[in-house]
Amino acid sequence: MNMQPKRPSLLERAAQIYDFNAALKARPAPAAADDLPPPSPAGFAAPAPAERHHARPGRTGTIDREELREAGYILPDAPVSALAEEFRIVKRQLLLAAMDGADPRSRRILVASAMPDEGKTFCAVNLALSMANERDIEVLLVDADVAKPSILSTLGLEAGPGIMDAVEDAAIDPESCVIRTDLANLSVLPAGRPSNEATELIAADRTRVVIEALGRVPNRITIFDSPPVLAASPASVLALHVGQTMMVVRADRTSEADLKDALRLLEGCDDIRLLLNAASAGLGRRRFGTYYGYGA
Ligand SMILES: Nc1ncnc2c1ncn2[C@@H]1O[C@H](COP(=O)(O)OP(=O)(O)O)[C@@H](O)[C@H]1O
Ligand SMILES: [Mg+2]
Repeated sequence: MNMQPKRPSLLERAAQIYDFNAALKARPAPAAADDLPPPSPAGFAAPAPAERHHARPGRTGTIDREELREAGYILPDAPVSALAEEFRIVKRQLLLAAMDGADPRSRRILVASAMPDEGKTFCAVNLALSMANERDIEVLLVDADVAKPSILSTLGLEAGPGIMDAVEDAAIDPESCVIRTDLANLSVLPAGRPSNEATELIAADRTRVVIEALGRVPNRITIFDSPPVLAASPASVLALHVGQTMMVVRADRTSEADLKDALRLLEGCDDIRLLLNAASAGLGRRRFGTYYGYGA
């Protein structure tokens, strides 16, 4: 008897388009639940405490845990759930690739999807919360869905300047817009000033300068909550600056044609994994689904 759940054919076929990082597929998962193997010398050096928490510009903010809990997000102090377990697996694979890469882009992860409302923000925030449990890394969650930002409201943080301001004005240090939260390893960069030209601005070369500046903080993993790939052009530009892309596919919503079009637009990134977000409002029950791109 086959106990494996049947995979949706959509994903089986989509997965065939991509050569999902064979090296990662072969790699056994680390044994300890939430701790990764010791950082490799080429990758993550143990940070000097002073560099991590002091002498940095920017403000601080408190995360609204109650709101997150109500919206179904995973919190560090919550009992272990199936959802938390799923994100732990996803996180582990992403971090292994991040640590392996000599290219600084490998520490930048784009969380994208073809259309709005497929769960990009849900997955980006959960991934960030999960990664923030790790020792020796700092997670920077960037709200790059500049036309429809929702990271600050999701986390209950106050509005303020962000990536758009730093991209628009070279005099603004992007680090000064970063909010350090009361979760020790989690920082947030808001989308910032709303602009009619958000799309054009994020496509400008200055975005690369800003993203590279943000990457200079030791041991930082940057997660970008992307705009919908088919609804706005910046996603394909962001894909050029990241080493890994997590493509959220919502089982009850994403069409195969849209997924293929979106994957084509993200060609700038050569490590794309599909993440099946199996949220199903119709069933009155929401569930997070399978992670594709390795294992199984
Ligand atoms: N797996 C899930 N379980 C519960 N709620 C989810 C899940 N995926 C998405 N949602 C909810 O669905 C809505 C749309 O998701 P969101 O992440 O905002 O989409 P996007 O960022 O792609 O526009 C949000 O209210 C979000 O909290
Ligand atoms: Mg969103």
